Amino acid sequence: MPDRLIVLGIETSCDETAAAVYSTRGGILASRLFSQTELHKNYGGVVPEIASRAQIEKITGVVAETLSAAQIDLSAIDAIAVANTPGLAGSLLVGVCFAKALAYAAGKKLVGVNHLEAHIFSALLEHDVPFPHICMTASGGHTALYRVTGFGEYELLGQTTDDAAGETFDKVAKMLGYPYPGGPIIEKLAGEVGFRDFCRYPRQKNPRGSGKELLFSFSGLKTAVLYDLVKKGKYDLHEKHFIADPAACSAAPVISGDMRCESPADHIIRQQVASSLLVCVADMFADRVQQALEKYPDTRAVTFVGGVACNTYIGERLKAVAARRHIPLFIPSPRYCTDNGAMVAFVGHYKALHSRFADMSLDVLF
Ligand code: KG4
Ligand code: ZN
Repeated sequence: MPDRLIVLGIETSCDETAAAVYSTRGGILASRLFSQTELHKNYGGVVPEIASRAQIEKITGVVAETLSAAQIDLSAIDAIAVANTPGLAGSLLVGVCFAKALAYAAGKKLVGVNHLEAHIFSALLEHDVPFPHICMTASGGHTALYRVTGFGEYELLGQTTDDAAGETFDKVAKMLGYPYPGGPIIEKLAGEVGFRDFCRYPRQKNPRGSGKELLFSFSGLKTAVLYDLVKKGKYDLHEKHFIADPAACSAAPVISGDMRCESPADHIIRQQVASSLLVCVADMFADRVQQALEKYPDTRAVTFVGGVACNTYIGERLKAVAARRHIPLFIPSPRYCTDNGAMVAFVGHYKALHSRFADMSLDVLF
C-alpha cells in the first residue's frame, strides 16, 4: 500500500459542480464549487436539463481553480476520483466523462465513488469518529440510516420508502411561496417561533418488533401540510400556490419568494406550518436514531450528514439522543454537509490507497 497519495475529487451528481484535492499528509488542500441554486430557485426544485448544461459550462473552470488553490500541478496528482452514482444521469455524466478524459490524457488512475458513501464518510473529514457508528444521512434526494463499521464498510439499516426529508422541506417551502432550496427558510421561520409544534401533523409510527422500525416516510406528512393549508384557505389546489392575504399590498408581486407585501397574518401561518413540519421531521429522525442505538448497543458515536444536517435544530435533537447513551454526535461543517468535492476526494483517497481503481468502462448508475 502506498504511504502517500494526492487525489483530485470531482462531484457533479446534482446541482453543484465541485472539486477538491486530498492528500495523505495534508488532508484537504483545496475545495471549490459552483452552486446552481440561483438557476433553479424559481422552479421549486432542481431542473435536470438546466443542471447538466450548467455542469458542462462550469466543470473545467472549477477543476482548474481547485488545482490552483491547492498549489498543485496536475502532474502531482496520483488519482482522479469522481462520483458516478446515484444522482441525475445528465449531471453525473459530465463529471464522469470529464474525469475519464482527464485521467486518460494525463495518464492518471481513475476511481469511481458512490455519492452516498461520500456523504457517509464526510463526518470523518474533520473529526476522529470512532467505529462502529450510526450515520443519519439526509439530503434532497436521500434519507437513510447506516451502521458504519470501518472505512468503506457500512450497512444500510433503513431508508425512506417515498420522499426524502430535504425534498419535503423544499416542497413545503414551495407551498408557502418560497424558492428552492426550502430547508434554510423552514429553519429560519421555525426559529422565529421557538421550534414549537402548532399544527400537530401526524408522525409516521413504526412499532417496535414490526421489522420496519428504521424506515422513514414523508409523503403523508407532505399531504397533511398541503390539506392543512387548503383548510386554512391559504392554498389554491388548482393554481398550485399559496393564497396571500390581498389586503397586505394592493400591487402584490406574484414572484415566488418575494415577501415584501406579506401580511402579519400570513407570516404567522408560514411560521407555524414551518415550525410544526420541522419538529415533526426532527421527531422522526430522533426516534429512528434512538431505535438504531437500542438495536446496536456497541455503537460508539452518531454522525449526521447531507444537506439537511445544516439544520441546527435537528442536530441538537440528535445530540440529545446520543447523549442519553453517553456517546458523541458529529456533524460536518455546513460546507461539507451539502454536496462538495472534498468528500469525494476523501473516499477516493482511501479507495486509491487500497488500489480499488476503475477502468475506462466506468459508467454512471442512477
Ligand atoms: O446534500 P445536498 O446539498 O444535495 C443533495 O444531495 O440532495 O442537500 C440539499 C438539501 C435540500 O433539500 C435543502 O433544502 C436541504 O438540503 N437543506 C436543509 C437545510 N439546508 C439545506 N434542510 C433543512 N435545514 C437546513 N438548514
Ligand atoms: Zn448529496
